[in-house]
Amino acid sequence: MQNQQNLEQQQNLEEQQDLEQQQNLEQQAPQHRVALVTGAGKRRIGNVVAEALARRGFSIALHYNRSANEAAETVARLRLWGCQAAAFPADVSEPGQIERLFDQVLQHFGRVDVLVTAAAVWHRKPLEETTAEDVRRQWEVNTLGTFLCCRRAGLAMAEQPEGGVIVTIGDWATRRPYHDYTAYFISKGAIPTLTRSLAVELSRRNPKVRVNCILPGPVMLPEYLDEHEVRGAVAGTLVKRAGRPENVAQAVLFFIENDFVTGVCLPVDGGRSIG
Ligand SMILES: NC(=O)c1ccc[n+]([C@@H]2O[C@H](COP(=O)([O-])OP(=O)(O)OC[C@H]3O[C@@H](n4cnc5c(N)ncnc54)[C@H](OP(=O)(O)O)[C@@H]3O)[C@@H](O)[C@H]2O)c1
Repeated sequence: MQNQQNLEQQQNLEEQQDLEQQQNLEQQAPQHRVALVTGAGKRRIGNVVAEALARRGFSIALHYNRSANEAAETVARLRLWGCQAAAFPADVSEPGQIERLFDQVLQHFGRVDVLVTAAAVWHRKPLEETTAEDVRRQWEVNTLGTFLCCRRAGLAMAEQPEGGVIVTIGDWATRRPYHDYTAYFISKGAIPTLTRSLAVELSRRNPKVRVNCILPGPVMLPEYLDEHEVRGAVAGTLVKRAGRPENVAQAVLFFIENDFVTGVCLPVDGGRSIG
């Protein structure tokens, strides 16, 4: 009889401890997950990615450079959906502005769980006219800006027990560059290496931080391309059509959800890279 009572008391104690542990875990879990998307003011790829993340319940830190009005309109739209959203400006070629961007985002939201780096420049120029300044400028925005954003976000994520996910954006065409964009391709060629390097570095600080890269094909071609150029880009895909920015957003969600994938580059290009 005494033994039976002791056993029941022991079981009750263990159940009580389990309950308390569960409550502690729930208190520690983040109330909201925060995604920062760079280059997301204008209705381009970053903006569509930000919307997709908002639909998945993320609070959104929307970065922009010059597109202040579009960024404000997007924030207003996301808030109508019940999403916590705020816009933050920065020129990502200025290291000081990136520091300020992250200070503001972390002060506002308290954490960062996802970073998607969609801010970039893409300038056409024949090789003969490409200057050192052209190469430097595109490298500063596309490569250095991406690196500094990823490093700051990654180190913040490494401090969080839940870690975080970084998704960089390169370009399928660094494997087979087309004409007149040498400075751009030089800057984008570093993105896969940067991705792998940060995946390795950050996993050592917190194995729950993952870094992956998307290599888009023609998903949102610039308006200044003529019909011939657009037809050429589409003809080069295996699926014989242009993609959509939503295809990139789907890949971002995949990288967030699949916690066994890190350090990889995923072409989202309709088969353009093997076409
Ligand atoms: N579009 C495609 O089909 C395609 C194909 C292959 C690869 N990609 C890659 O996918 C990514 C997104 O493409 P996208 O076409 O959406 O890009 P995008 O329209 O060329 O640029 C996105 C945003 O980058 C921001 N940006 C430019 N310079 C900046 C700076 N110095 N500081 C901060 N932000 C700056 C601009 O923000 P503001 O407007 O606020 O100034 C711009 O709206 C890029 O990395 C691009 O290389 C795109």
